[in-house]
Amino acid sequence: MKNVYNTFGGTADAPWYDTDGKRIQAHGGQVQKFTVNGKDKWYWIGEDKTYGYRPCGGIHLYSSDDLYNWKDEGIILRTMESTDEFEEPYFKELYGSLTKEEKETIFIDLDRNRCVIERPKMLYNEKTGKYVIWFHADGRFPGCKGDYDKAKAGVAVCDRPNGVFRMLGSYKLNYHNDPNGEYGFDGWENRGSVRDMNLFLDKDRTAYIIYSSEGNRTTFVSRLNEEYTNLAVDRDQAVEGVDFTRNFIGCFREAHAMFCYQNKYYMINSGCTSWSPNPARYAVADHPMGPWRDMGDPCMEKGRETTYDSQSTCVILVDEEKGGCIYMGDRWKEEDLAVSGYIWLPIVFLPDGKMILEKREDWSYGQESSK
Ligand code: GAL
Repeated sequence: MKNVYNTFGGTADAPWYDTDGKRIQAHGGQVQKFTVNGKDKWYWIGEDKTYGYRPCGGIHLYSSDDLYNWKDEGIILRTMESTDEFEEPYFKELYGSLTKEEKETIFIDLDRNRCVIERPKMLYNEKTGKYVIWFHADGRFPGCKGDYDKAKAGVAVCDRPNGVFRMLGSYKLNYHNDPNGEYGFDGWENRGSVRDMNLFLDKDRTAYIIYSSEGNRTTFVSRLNEEYTNLAVDRDQAVEGVDFTRNFIGCFREAHAMFCYQNKYYMINSGCTSWSPNPARYAVADHPMGPWRDMGDPCMEKGRETTYDSQSTCVILVDEEKGGCIYMGDRWKEEDLAVSGYIWLPIVFLPDGKMILEKREDWSYGQESSK
């Protein structure tokens, strides 16, 4: 089905098709503007769930001039059926110089029948000229049976947003240095675990990773290195409060979406109820690393107990000057994840750092406060 759109479906949740008439597959995603070869475009990165939960479809990219109509830019991080595929041109070009052991390690993150690739996000690094993807790298691996025991952050790089991304690796991140602390189901053994995650690029070009850790009890914000390819400081040397912070301790938050609006930092997140929606909360800070002030539920209308049947994934800052912001949420359909919907809503800002996610159907940008 081919459609030309001039509205966002919002809570109406009609299927959203790309410019070829195929359902958009970019769940747990992020939208941002990049200038590529002198041309400004919006890019939407997300999880490809064409085959449902698994086989894992990898990471999909779309591009748009207007945020309504999206062109398929293809799968930018492909998954693999077996290690034999390292001999095929696509993977040989990327990983041909690696040892057998190194290839086997990459395969764990890309094994389409066992891996979990969730909430991919991209950054452009002005210094290196590279695009960097971070994602929640999970799934089964030798000796483990659960889908979320690995709990790492995967990193991949490329010279273009719509090119072929090369995996650098997957990592455990920062941890609270106290073997006797309370770390929920992860315990001290699984310290530095990463599950739902997001990225944030500040105006000074410092980048941060935001992630649920300690058995999802706590939200970490960690500074990335200058290349955006790893932590700023090795996790065994990092200082809590300087190189990373622990936020919302014991509050079980996930689906983090951080953005900056008029010099205030905002974070929207959800509770931890798997694919079922729950009430969102938001918090405000003067710095990406906090401290965060809890502001409560950003939804005001009927349906607020499920964030209008959605879970946050990103906020699009449409216009730096005018400050228009769009909330991007996923409406997961657990019985068939491939048809999970995208709930995009306007954000309205009120005095004192308050904001509201407006419940809207078939709305267009620029009319978000007309209610
Ligand atoms: C949600 C999470 C999703 C996915 C899902 C699996 O809580 O936000 O990204 O991990 O659980 O159950």
